[in-house]
Amino acid sequence: MPRKIAAGNWKMNGMKSSLSELRILEDKHGDADIAILICPPFTLISACEDTPFDIGGQDCHTAEAGAHTGDISAEMLADAGASYVLTGHSERRTDHGETDALVAAKSQAAYNAGLIAVICIGETLEEREAGQTLDVIDRQLSGSVPQSADALTTVIAYEPVWAIGTGKVPTTEQIAQVHAHIRTRLQSRFDDGAEFSLLYGGSVKGSNAADIFAVPNVDGALVGGASLKAADFSPIIAALESV
Ligand code: 13P
Repeated sequence: MPRKIAAGNWKMNGMKSSLSELRILEDKHGDADIAILICPPFTLISACEDTPFDIGGQDCHTAEAGAHTGDISAEMLADAGASYVLTGHSERRTDHGETDALVAAKSQAAYNAGLIAVICIGETLEEREAGQTLDVIDRQLSGSVPQSADALTTVIAYEPVWAIGTGKVPTTEQIAQVHAHIRTRLQSRFDDGAEFSLLYGGSVKGSNAADIFAVPNVDGALVGGASLKAADFSPIIAALESV
C-alpha cells in the first residue's frame, strides 16, 4: 500500500514564531500513523528537527556543493534534518524557468543525498482548456522523474496550476482521472509503480479534504495556505487519518 502523507508546503512564509503552530500540531497528531511532512523555508529546517514530523526542503540544487550563491544542496538539507525535498513545484517552474530535465537532475541529487523527492507536476488552465492535461502529465512524468526512481525515494504530487492558491478545486472526477493516469504510467515504467504515494495539491482545505481523500489513487495532499496554521492543517491531517 502507498504511504499516506499529509504534507504542508509553507512556501516563502514562516518565522521562528511560526514554530508554535508545529507544537499545537504535535499535541494533536504527534502519534499519527500516517506521515506528516512539513516543508518550511530553509531558515527554519534546523529548528524543526525536534518535532515528530518529517521535514522537507522546498527545492535543492543539482550539485553537492560549489560556487552557486544563494542555492542549497540536497546534502545541506539532509544535514539540517530534512528527509524530503519538493522538486519541480509549479512556482519554481514558473518563477525560475525550471525545466523537466532540471527537475529530474534535482530529484536525482535528492536521491544521492538520501532524501525522498516529492516531484510536482500539473497542467495550467490553458492546457486543461485545450484538452492537453494528460499529455502535459505524460511529458512531465517522463521528463521530471528519473529512471532510478522507486516508491521508497519518490512521491508524485499532482498540482493543477490553476488550483494553487485560487480556491478552485478540480472535481473529484477530474482528480480521479489524472491520478489513475499517473498510476498507470508509473506501473508501466517502474516495477513498484503501484506503491508510489500520489498526492493531490491545490486549494485543499478542511472542508474538501475528506472528499479528495476518498478518490482512488489519492494517498494524501500537498497543502499550501492551509498548512500554515495548525487550526487549518489539523482537520486535513485528521481527514487523512480517518480514510
Ligand atoms: P494551496 O494549498 O495554497 O493552493 O497551495 C498548494 C501548493 O502549491 C502546495 O505545494
